[in-house]
Amino acid sequence: EIVNGHDSKEESTVNGPEKNETTEIIEVKDETTKTEEILPENNKKSDKKTKNASKNDEKGPEVKVEKKPLLDHPTVNVQVKRDPKIQVARLKLPILGEEQRIMELINENEFLIVAGETGSGKTTQIPQFLYEAGYAEHKMIAVTEPRRVATVAMAARVGHELGLTSKEVSYLMRFEGNVSKDTKIKFMTDGVLLKEIQSDFLLSKYSVVIIDEAHERSVYTDILLGLLSRIVPLRRKRGSPLRLIIMSATLRVEDFTENTRLFKEPPPVIKIDSRQFTVTTHFNKNTYSDYLKEAYKKAVKIHTRLPEGGILIFVTGQQEVNYLVRKLKASFPYRKDMDYSKLINKTKPVSAAEAELDSEPEDIESDDDEVEKEMKRARKARRKAKLKSKALPKINLDDYDMPEDDGQADLVGDDEDSEGHLSDSDAEEDTLTSAIKSCRQPLWVLPLYSMLNSAKQARVFAPAPVGARLCVVSTDVAETSLTIPAVRYVVDTGKKKMRVYDHATGASAWRVVWTSRASAEQRAGRAGRVGAGHAYRLYSSAVFQHDCPDHHPPDLCRRPVDDLLLTMKCMGIDKVVNFPFPTAPDRMQLRLAEKRLETLGILEKPPMRNTKKGEEEVLKVTPLGKAVSAFPLLPRYGKMLALSHQQNLLAYTIALVSALSVPEVMSGKPDSWPATGHVQLLGDPGVLLRAVGAAEFAYVKGEEDIFCAKYGLREKAIKEIRKLRKQLTSEINLSVAGVDVAVDPEMRPPTDDQARLLRQLVLSGLGDQVGKKIALEEVKQGEDKRKFKYAYHCGELEEPVHLHSDSILRKTIPEWVVFQELYETGAEERRKMVMRNVTAIEPEWLPLLVPQMCNLGDPLDEPPPAYDQKSGRVKCHFKGTFGKAGWELPTVEVD
Ligand code: CDP
Ligand code: MG
Repeated sequence: EIVNGHDSKEESTVNGPEKNETTEIIEVKDETTKTEEILPENNKKSDKKTKNASKNDEKGPEVKVEKKPLLDHPTVNVQVKRDPKIQVARLKLPILGEEQRIMELINENEFLIVAGETGSGKTTQIPQFLYEAGYAEHKMIAVTEPRRVATVAMAARVGHELGLTSKEVSYLMRFEGNVSKDTKIKFMTDGVLLKEIQSDFLLSKYSVVIIDEAHERSVYTDILLGLLSRIVPLRRKRGSPLRLIIMSATLRVEDFTENTRLFKEPPPVIKIDSRQFTVTTHFNKNTYSDYLKEAYKKAVKIHTRLPEGGILIFVTGQQEVNYLVRKLKASFPYRKDMDYSKLINKTKPVSAAEAELDSEPEDIESDDDEVEKEMKRARKARRKAKLKSKALPKINLDDYDMPEDDGQADLVGDDEDSEGHLSDSDAEEDTLTSAIKSCRQPLWVLPLYSMLNSAKQARVFAPAPVGARLCVVSTDVAETSLTIPAVRYVVDTGKKKMRVYDHATGASAWRVVWTSRASAEQRAGRAGRVGAGHAYRLYSSAVFQHDCPDHHPPDLCRRPVDDLLLTMKCMGIDKVVNFPFPTAPDRMQLRLAEKRLETLGILEKPPMRNTKKGEEEVLKVTPLGKAVSAFPLLPRYGKMLALSHQQNLLAYTIALVSALSVPEVMSGKPDSWPATGHVQLLGDPGVLLRAVGAAEFAYVKGEEDIFCAKYGLREKAIKEIRKLRKQLTSEINLSVAGVDVAVDPEMRPPTDDQARLLRQLVLSGLGDQVGKKIALEEVKQGEDKRKFKYAYHCGELEEPVHLHSDSILRKTIPEWVVFQELYETGAEERRKMVMRNVTAIEPEWLPLLVPQMCNLGDPLDEPPPAYDQKSGRVKCHFKGTFGKAGWELPTVEVD
C-alpha cells in the first residue's frame, strides 16, 4: 500500500498564507555550497501545483508538470551467501515479500518513508536489500539509531545475516565503535551522524542514509531530518544522489509527510503489513502506586497459571530492571545441574477466563459511554453495599483465583486510583507464596536496558534453556528498538522515565510518567509475534483513557531551547527559527533564547551586516559560546564553568552549577550556614555551595540522611546533585586538556578572595538578571531601625521584586544583585514578585562582565586616559548606565 501524505483539499489550503514566510534556512560554512542552493523551494506556488497538476488542469492550464531528471541508481547485484538457517528465518519476515517494491521505490526516489510494526524486519533487512542492490559498492550505507543498545545489536545482527565481518558491517557511537576502511554498512547513533555533518555537510561518504526509529522523535533525529531534507537535493545537484529512508514503527507519519517545510512534496510511504496475532489486553481494576510489586505478582501468576510462552515486563529504568530480575530469579531459580525437560506441562491453550488472571478484559469503548459509566457506578455501589452488609469481609482463599464479580477488588479502595494497598493482604501473599512453592518450573529471567553490555543484551535473542520459561525485564528499549522472539505475555507497568525540564531553573530531571496510549499499544503488540498473546496493563482502563496522553510531544518541544539553539548555531545553522523541524519548537521561545544568549556574550552580532535590508541580523557564536556548548548544561551555567577554568575555581563551580541545576534543594534554615565578608555576599548560592560540600562529607561518613534532615536539605536533591557533579567532573576531565578535577568530599568553604571571584562568575552567567535596590515606602511607626522597606527593580519589570523569605541577603539587602529565578507568589491582592537564589554584585563589574547591557558613552576627561606600560593598554574612565532602565553606574576604569 503506497500512500501519499497530501490530499488535494489540504493542498489548496496551504498555498496562500505561507508565501510570506522567510525561506532562508541554512547557511553553510562550506564555501563551495552556496546558500541559495539550500533555499527550500517548497513555498513557491508552482511546486505545490505540479503534483496535482492533473486535478487542477481546468483552472490553471499554465501550470507545467516539471519533469524530474531520472535518478541514478546502482545496477549491480552483490552476491550474498547466507547461512540456510538464516535464510529460512528471513523468509518468515513480512518485509521480505516487499523487497522488490521497496527497492523500486528507493531506486526511483530520493525520499522514502517505511512504516511497519516492530519486528517486521525494517532494521535488519532494509540495509541488506540495499547492500545486495549495490548501494554499498562505492559509498557507505548509513543507519542511525537513537539508542546505543540498538546500534551495537543491529550492526552485529546484519553482519551475521550477511555473513560479513564487523569490519564490513560496523557501528560507531560516542566513545566506542568498530568502523574500518572496509565498512560498507555503518550503524551509528544519531548524534554521531550529526557530528559528521559538521565536518562534511554533504555526507559524501554515503549513498543512503537510513534514519531508524524516527517515530521516537529524539532531538538529534529531528535535527537530522531537517538537515537531510536540504542535503539530499544538494547532492542531486552535484550529480551524486543521496537517498534518505525514514523508518518508523508507527503508522503515524503525518509529521513527516504533511510538513511542507520539510519536504517539497510528500515522500512516498510504504507500509509493511506485519503478521501480527491477536493480543488480548487486560486492565487492572485498580491502579497502585507500587507498580513493581504489581509487576512481580503478575509475572508470578502468569508463570504459575498460564501455558508456555515468554513474558516481557516493561518497567522504567535500569535499577527497576535489576530489582525485578533478582526477585523473580529468587522465586523460580534455574539450576544448571537440573533436568527440567519434563516440566513442560502446560501445553493446552489458555482459556479466556484463565487468561484474565485478576485483570479485567478491555472495555475501553464503554468507558466513554455515559450510560455504561452510570451502570458501572451502580454496580460498584451494589458491591459496596454487599460488602458493608458483611460484618467482616472474609477473603476465601479458594475464591481468590476467580475474582470475577466477587467484590474483592473493591476492598482495595473506593476509587480506581486508590493508593491504598489493602490487596496486599496476608491471604494474597499466602496464595502467591504457595503458588511459587508448588511451581517447579524455573524462570529464565534476563534484564534488558540501554547500558547493558552487548554480550548480555544478545542473550534475549537466544531461546531459553529447555524446560525454563523466558522472562525479560526491560525498559522501553523493547518497545520498538529490539524485538524479542517468543514473547506471549506482556506485563506493562504503564510507566516510563521521561526527561522533564524545569523551565525556571533550566534543570532537567528524569521523572516517571504514564506512557502514551501509542506506547501502550506498541508494548501490547510485543505479545503477538509468535501466536495469540496477552497484554496485562497494571493500571485501570480509566487511567488509560484519562491520564495517558495520546502521544508524548517530541523531545525537542519539551526542553529549553537555549542549548538547542546554541548547538545548532555551532553547527552552522544560523537561522534556527526557520529551520525545517518536523515539529517546530515555539518561535517566541527561540527568539527570547537568542536574546538571552546575546546578552550573555554567547552569541553576537557579526562585525559586518550579513543580511539584506529589513531582515533581522544573524547572530553568530562567539569563541566563548563554542566553549560553553561543550557542556551538557544550560548555556548560562556552561558559561560559569567555562570561565571558572581560568580562575582555578572549577571544583567550586562544578558543585555550584550542579546545585543550581536541581530545584528546591533547601527549605529554610539559612541561618545554619553563617558566613561573613565576600562569602556572605555570595548569598544564597554560597549557602547552597556550603550545604552541598558538607552533605558530601556527611555522605562519605554514611550520615547523609541525618545530615539532610538536620539542615533541612532535600535528600533526593542532594543525591541528584552528587550525580551531576560526578558526571560534569568526568566530562570536563575528558574534554578539557590538562584538567584533572575531582569531587572533593572535604571541599572547604571558599576563602574571601575565592568568594569574590565566585560572585563574579555568578554574575557572568546571570548577567541578564540584575536587580537594583529601591526604597518602597516609609515604615510608619515603631522601633524599626530601618526607615524604608526595600525591594528591587529588575530589568524591564515595573513591579518591585522582593527577596525570597529564605534569602540570606535579607540581612544586608545589598544595592545590586543578580538572581537565578523570578516567580510570582500569593493570591489576589497579596500577589507579589519574588527573586530566589540571590547574589550581591558590585556595579563596577558590570561593564566588564555584562558589557552588552552597559552604555558607557565617551571616556571622561577627568582623570585623563592613561597609558599603562605593563599591559600596553590605555585605561580610561567612564561614567555610564546599565540596562534599558538606565541605572547609573559608578565611574569605572576600563581598558
Ligand atoms: O526493525 P524492525 O522492528 O522492523 O525489525 P527487526 O529489528 O529488523 O527484527 C526482525 C526480526 O529479527 C525480529 O523477529 C527479531 O526478533 C529478529 N532478530 C533476531 O532474531 N536476532 C537479533 N539479534 C535481531 C533481530
Ligand atoms: Mg527496528
